[in-house]
Amino acid sequence: MIKNKNVMITGAAGFIGSHLTEKLLKHANFLILIDNFNDYYAGKEKQLNDILSNYKQNSDYLLIKGNLVDESTLKQVEHEPDYIFHLAAQAGVRYSIDHASEVTYNNLVSTVNVFEYALKGSSIKRVINASSSSVYGNPLYTPVDENHPKNPISPYAVSKLCGEIYANLYFKENDLPITSLRFYTVYGPRGRPDMAIKKFFNLMFQNKEILIYGDGTQKRDFTYISDIVNGLILASEKINAIGEIFNLGGSNPVTVNELIDKMYNIVKAEKKIRNIEKQKGDVNITHSDISKAKKILDFTPEVNIDTGLRNQYEWQKNYYK
Ligand SMILES: NC(=O)c1ccc[n+]([C@@H]2O[C@H](COP(=O)([O-])OP(=O)(O)OC[C@H]3O[C@@H](n4cnc5c(N)ncnc54)[C@H](O)[C@@H]3O)[C@@H](O)[C@H]2O)c1
Repeated sequence: MIKNKNVMITGAAGFIGSHLTEKLLKHANFLILIDNFNDYYAGKEKQLNDILSNYKQNSDYLLIKGNLVDESTLKQVEHEPDYIFHLAAQAGVRYSIDHASEVTYNNLVSTVNVFEYALKGSSIKRVINASSSSVYGNPLYTPVDENHPKNPISPYAVSKLCGEIYANLYFKENDLPITSLRFYTVYGPRGRPDMAIKKFFNLMFQNKEILIYGDGTQKRDFTYISDIVNGLILASEKINAIGEIFNLGGSNPVTVNELIDKMYNIVKAEKKIRNIEKQKGDVNITHSDISKAKKILDFTPEVNIDTGLRNQYEWQKNYYK
């Protein structure tokens, strides 16, 4: 476990970044938190400030509100980080289809700026680069291992694949100790409002109809947030993870129809669903082969979908009120 270190987290106010921030603060690390609090969804600034309210600016953390596409943002950092977790990105597969150039510019330029910054550091032990299972596109076989061909079908997925290629370039040409992680649909408390589980619970609370893209037989490998945070930390600690790419997934996919049944069982609301046309950019199945992460990182997902959904429900019903 990373303790008493200087740790930079980009995208710290986001869903995954805020959980990593919470965990690393508890282990007496000094955190350099960077986020531009983009307006993709509301509430992230308050959410981060709630976590930080138990800690002190300048002695426990430094919060920089800035855009990583702007090189001057990283110039404001006075402490040399030992670890960098690069999570900042314009997320959202569907959003990227209508905002291709914005997503491409944001995700590529911010990633290159972070890697360039890391090159200048003298004490960098690891840079963790957040990638995505979307780089694979529609799988040719399942479960999908890291060597599966990459056929991204959205600008977001292409931007994540480019991020990995840059990571490889900086590792090979500059010896920067980078590890990339391909996350599979992450959910849990503070989950993003554009993601299915959060949207569906909110609609169930309001007794509103749920629109399902396609016939609901598409499968998703849902991964609980605490498992992702554990994976991030494990990946930063293992020496033989340097220069490597890992899938981080729950590895136990369920169909959207099964997911919705489980959610209705928890909420106990009247079932109201309607199937509509499949969305561009959506893949039919995501299913991670996590044997590499198990072997090299000791990564084992611990929270199954039933427990994870129950946890998200407990958090979201209070948040919703
Ligand atoms: N949540 C998932 O299921 C999932 C799956 C695969 C990959 N990922 C990746 O994990 C990372 C975190 O995702 P998340 O779900 O927490 O998303 P999020 O949108 O909740 O968090 C991203 C954060 O990055 C910030 N940000 C974006 N561009 C920035 C910039 N140019 N400068 C500074 N800050 C910027 C945003 O304000 C936001 O707070 C992203 O890189 C995403 O691509 C997430």
